[in-house]
Amino acid sequence: MAAPKPLNIHEMKEMKAKGLPISMITAYDYPSARLAEEAGVDLILVGDSLGNVIINYDSTLPVTMDDIVYHTRAVTRATEHTFIVADMPFMTYHGSIDETLKNVRRIMQEGFAHSVKLEGGAEIGDTVRRIVEAGVPVMGHIGLTPQSIHQIGGYKIQGKDSQGAKRLLDDAKALEQAGAFAVLVEMVTEEAADAIARELSVPVIGIGAGRTCDGQVLVYHDLLGYSSPKKEKRFVKEYADLGTQIRSSIAQYVKEVRERSFPGEEHVFHAKDDVLEQLYGGGKAKTVVG
Ligand code: KIV
Repeated sequence: MAAPKPLNIHEMKEMKAKGLPISMITAYDYPSARLAEEAGVDLILVGDSLGNVIINYDSTLPVTMDDIVYHTRAVTRATEHTFIVADMPFMTYHGSIDETLKNVRRIMQEGFAHSVKLEGGAEIGDTVRRIVEAGVPVMGHIGLTPQSIHQIGGYKIQGKDSQGAKRLLDDAKALEQAGAFAVLVEMVTEEAADAIARELSVPVIGIGAGRTCDGQVLVYHDLLGYSSPKKEKRFVKEYADLGTQIRSSIAQYVKEVRERSFPGEEHVFHAKDDVLEQLYGGGKAKTVVG
């Protein structure tokens, strides 16, 4: 039987129409992407959150095109039937359209992504349109947009007042009109996200955006408790505590090395008797403790 193909953007829209929720997770390397695909996730996002979770920058601003291309390639080498979205890093789509398309080209041709994600609303409508016209699916990203964190003034819930909620809705509509195949909505009230999801015909994927979005996305390391130090986020559900498991496994390894109980007999390669005879006159090279 042929391997299942990744969902395409039209099937995602059909899923929304049928009320079938879409699952998305970030991944940044081969094993994480492979495990996510094996677990059956619909979409993987190579997010610029890699700047936070992989290298512990205090924002996503320092993440570069080279970073995204490198990590996207690692993810796409691991996946066959998952739709891959890659983030356009900070300021890589605000210059000339030629420069923007050059950056999109790198993500598609060198990273092998299926689509790109851009932060912003109506103000990036023309850019979204030009990328879509070039044949590249675009996911929009509104609400809390981490690349504008200094403009926003911190990680705050968006769309809390009627003006803010209206602006979010207008931005979402502008992105849909520009041709975005989906819109990611981050850290907004459930009510604002719900209004957007009702209004749009393309899927709305939420993170910290309540229960009624057409899909959900979480950051791999948040979902798995795979970080140190742990950063509590109200909208995250932790499905595992890998940080604790990893720390205690490594501590056990360190202990066993120190007490010489690792490696054990089952991890050792032995020389043949004739080699032993030639080298050591039949004796053992070194006395093994234990
Ligand atoms: O970069 C990222 O991981 C994101 C998350 C909000 C999903 O955009």
